[in-house]
Amino acid sequence: MIEAAFHFPNGFLWGTATSSHQVEGDNRRNDWWAWEQQPGRILQGARSGLACDWWGGRWKEDLDRAAAGGQNAHRLSVEWSRIEPEPGRWDAHALDFYREILAGMRERGIEPMVTLHHFTNPLWLAEEGGWENEGVVSRFEAFTRKTVAALKDLATFWCTINEPNVYAYSAIASEAFPPGRKDLRAALKVMRHQILAHAASYHAIHELQPGARAGIVIHYRGMTPHSANPLDGMVAGMQSRIFNDLIAQALVDGRLRFPVGRGRVPQAAGTQDYIGLNYYSCDHVSFDPLRPGELFARRFYPRGADLSEVGWNANMPEGMARAIRWANSFGVPIYITENGIEDEADHIRPRYLVQHLHQVWKAANIGVPVRGYFHWSLVDNFEWERGWTQRFGLWAVDPETQERAERPSARLYAEICKENGITSGMVRRYAPEVFSVLFPG
Ligand code: FCB
Repeated sequence: MIEAAFHFPNGFLWGTATSSHQVEGDNRRNDWWAWEQQPGRILQGARSGLACDWWGGRWKEDLDRAAAGGQNAHRLSVEWSRIEPEPGRWDAHALDFYREILAGMRERGIEPMVTLHHFTNPLWLAEEGGWENEGVVSRFEAFTRKTVAALKDLATFWCTINEPNVYAYSAIASEAFPPGRKDLRAALKVMRHQILAHAASYHAIHELQPGARAGIVIHYRGMTPHSANPLDGMVAGMQSRIFNDLIAQALVDGRLRFPVGRGRVPQAAGTQDYIGLNYYSCDHVSFDPLRPGELFARRFYPRGADLSEVGWNANMPEGMARAIRWANSFGVPIYITENGIEDEADHIRPRYLVQHLHQVWKAANIGVPVRGYFHWSLVDNFEWERGWTQRFGLWAVDPETQERAERPSARLYAEICKENGITSGMVRRYAPEVFSVLFPG
């Protein structure tokens, strides 16, 4: 049988992504740990606990798995509350821990991408008012300086803030993340501070390490008006502008746009050496007069969507093409810094993976500068307010026993990474139900 293949450009980065609080365990000094102790905050009363026990050393076996599976990159985050447990007090032991992990990656042929802020805050910062207090800008800059100075010989790729848009929405506008606020105005203020903090961090990184590649990671969510009703179009456009565009645009031209603010922040202009794109799925949006707190929008999956087992995520690969087109409008290289689906039984993940990567390949094939792909995630981990109910890992993890089990998708992804492409044989073996979609005729 003749094999067809979609090959990616030479030097493409193939990896997985994780974040400190979700995999390390025992992160007692951040706002999430405190939040998890409060009844009703996390589904089924779950806690991060030992998570995947990376702090206890299991990062070694997990990165062995990644390397054996042909991955040549990994995106992780450093935990601010470990590095700066009290304002201005730096913990050398924590910095050594991250040096050890980064060196361990290099030994395994894995290029690190280091995120500085992935949702969690030191408790002391939260007590100061967190991201609502403009003081966060200089705090974040100081933390950046300390961390980059300590790790710069081991990492080139830095990501300042993970999904500032999701953080502002989930923590400040919808009560899902700590501090559990529900105040749209405050969320817009937080977005302004995120832009300023990113800019300060970006310049600090380049001052300390001129050859660094620094960027931000935005969660892009396609927003489609549910009907031809102009009100649906209006609210979909508004959601997309605020959620998707505002922060990334400010980092291009240094302009704050309504409703985040007005005027210029020139220090933010041109502060992306690349854009990190997290893409999971798309929403339909309709006008709903009963939701002023959500700017009169209701967001949902269209009927008949290819839903995951728990329905949190829908397989919409065409949205990846849309997301990449969006990211390409910023004129810098693109890394897909997260993409994945919760699927304990691994029923949908193989097709989700090949269909999304097919879209990435299509873009790369016509010269769009997509330079790497990081699947979320290497191993099942603590999934924020959804606790352990959602399993995103290529490898399953039992948080009680810390046992790992390989899912078929781990084997599929390993074949893809080693081939630097997707072949018809892989699709036939792992996701035959979409074979004719990827290889028509
Ligand atoms: C993203 C987060 C990541 C993980 C995935 C499923 O929004 O950045 O930490 O929770 O969703």
